[in-house]
Amino acid sequence: MRKTIIVANWKMFPSNLKEARGIFEKIKKESKKYDSIDTVIAPPHIFLPALEEGKIKLGAQDIFYKDEGPFTGEISANMLKSSGASYILVGHSERRELGETDEIVRKKFQHALSRGFRVVLCVGEKEKSDDAFPVIVKNEIISAIKGTPRKFASRVIIAYEPVWAISSHSGARADTPQNFFEMSIFIRRTILDIWGKSAALRIPVIYGGSVNSKNAKGFFEVKGSSGVLVGKASLNPSEFIKILDIANKK
Ligand code: PGA
Repeated sequence: MRKTIIVANWKMFPSNLKEARGIFEKIKKESKKYDSIDTVIAPPHIFLPALEEGKIKLGAQDIFYKDEGPFTGEISANMLKSSGASYILVGHSERRELGETDEIVRKKFQHALSRGFRVVLCVGEKEKSDDAFPVIVKNEIISAIKGTPRKFASRVIIAYEPVWAISSHSGARADTPQNFFEMSIFIRRTILDIWGKSAALRIPVIYGGSVNSKNAKGFFEVKGSSGVLVGKASLNPSEFIKILDIANKK
């Protein structure tokens, strides 16, 4: 059976290493019980070397698309790898909001894959609309995937994260499991046109946006759901452990 994927995106939290270690250790201790889950924690880059990958995998929230050079403030694949990361988040809406274009996302996506990482490609529409299948989601996927060798497909995870549902947005509420179900089919259809049937069926599609211990079950139960991406709730160890527990009982 395929494992459920649960990605914790810590964003720019917590404010210091001591706290980061504390949260990580609590989750790590519990995660030993969960054989049916791939848990990934993506802390701020600076904390990566202090957190030890084991049952919990480490992820980075971003990567630069060059191996080295005069790129002040950027971080490379090797730096991340040697700091323990095996997953990379690419195209998160908070980075897109800061000016990351589809082209930059594509470069980062392809570069991270070519350097051996598993890559979580985040896509999602900005506004809630009546449009059943937002064209922006399709375009974000096509833009990143087109021209990417199909052999990399087995290391790609798609995170559907409607921007309006992300907890940092005022009035944000999680999407419905039913909409996630429909979107996951739409996402697989989009992948099918580029990478073909086998990739489309196999690529994990996970949901992100205000996931917590109260609503997680609904997203795990969606047919074809591969897991969730958790922001705010992942910084609260007991809340995050509850989510792992729910996934494990699925
Ligand atoms: P949230 O964040 O769970 O706090 O809504 C999810 C994300 O932005 O990755």
